[in-house]
Amino acid sequence: MSTTFTFDNSTSRANPTPAPMRRLTVPAIRERKGAEPLVMLTAYTVRMAQLLDPHCDMLLVGDSLGQVIYGLPSTVPVTVEMMCAHGAAVVRGSYHSLVVVDLPFGSYEASPMQAFETSARIMKETGAAAVKLEGGAVMAETVAFLSARGIPVIGHVGLTPQAVNALGGYGVRGRSSAEADKIVADAKAIDQAGAIAVVVEGVVEPIAIAVTKAIACPTIGIGASAQCDGQVLVTEDMLGMFDRVPRFVKRYHEIGDEIAQAAATYASEVRSRSFPTPDQTYQPKI
Ligand code: KIV
Repeated sequence: MSTTFTFDNSTSRANPTPAPMRRLTVPAIRERKGAEPLVMLTAYTVRMAQLLDPHCDMLLVGDSLGQVIYGLPSTVPVTVEMMCAHGAAVVRGSYHSLVVVDLPFGSYEASPMQAFETSARIMKETGAAAVKLEGGAVMAETVAFLSARGIPVIGHVGLTPQAVNALGGYGVRGRSSAEADKIVADAKAIDQAGAIAVVVEGVVEPIAIAVTKAIACPTIGIGASAQCDGQVLVTEDMLGMFDRVPRFVKRYHEIGDEIAQAAATYASEVRSRSFPTPDQTYQPKI
């Protein structure tokens, strides 16, 4: 599949245009409320983006890269520089999906202005079309500030991993009615502030359904409900690259086992000098 670009110079606002397809736009994503479910997966590298892009509506450069790529203990230490580097790689590797980059912990919570500066930097340096931030009603002012200034924002409610230290872990949210009401109110606040979509993570299913009914923009579930307007998973989870399988993950492959098997075969062939063979070596031309 081609990932080349053609240069469109038909107007002063023209961009290099990906061929053969155009990227999904923010309005196209919003229009999927109650319609065909949105498909979102995480991507952090150019090659993974190329492989996933034709099958997805959105690629999320999640701050889960902290654990998945960098082996960090949580998303808390993730930096804006990491998000920019991986966001740019994913944009370079895709031409169809709308690319969304997470705002990392500490880069947006202090004020709407701080969030604007971080988001603008990420969009300029990566070419991504939207950012995602965690938090409910407390972030509504920031979502409104960004949205009014041309920055499409996806919200994230329920289990918010950047708050792991405050929450005390990654347990499912919304088991008490007070917590359930708060999650629905949080989603409504973000929606009314102009979010283009809201990720609903790690909640008991009736809450995900209630949120989906209560808000105007699409919900994207992870550990939530098939009745959300779309779904997202961490790609490495669904490919079977980790040993532990959380309840909300379905493994569509066992690629971790296949990689380990390939490495073991390679190691054995190197040690026995059966790799490389004449097929993989260059001989002088006679
Ligand atoms: O960082 C991430 O990958 C996410 C998804 C799990 C929604 O936020």
